Amino acid sequence: MAKITVVGQGECEFDGQFSMLEALDENGFDMPYSCRGGNCGACTVRLISGEVEEIQSPAYDSRKGEILTCSVIPVTDVEIELI
Ligand code: FES
Repeated sequence: MAKITVVGQGECEFDGQFSMLEALDENGFDMPYSCRGGNCGACTVRLISGEVEEIQSPAYDSRKGEILTCSVIPVTDVEIELI
């Protein structure tokens, strides 16, 4: 199981949820989001370390080093930071 660390908030395990956002939500993290569909960019966070895989093709174009938590799952332990 991959561990998700949110800088300044804590960490949780990714346990097969649909998305990283869903895992964080379930574990009580206060994450930004709006559409949950890869369209708005509200869920953008900085990926500090680790690897993620896209589970949907987002319309929103994230910048290098940033990910949409609604549109990815972690494939290794990851560390992310709110921006
Ligand atoms: S919540 Fe809108 S892009 Fe992720």
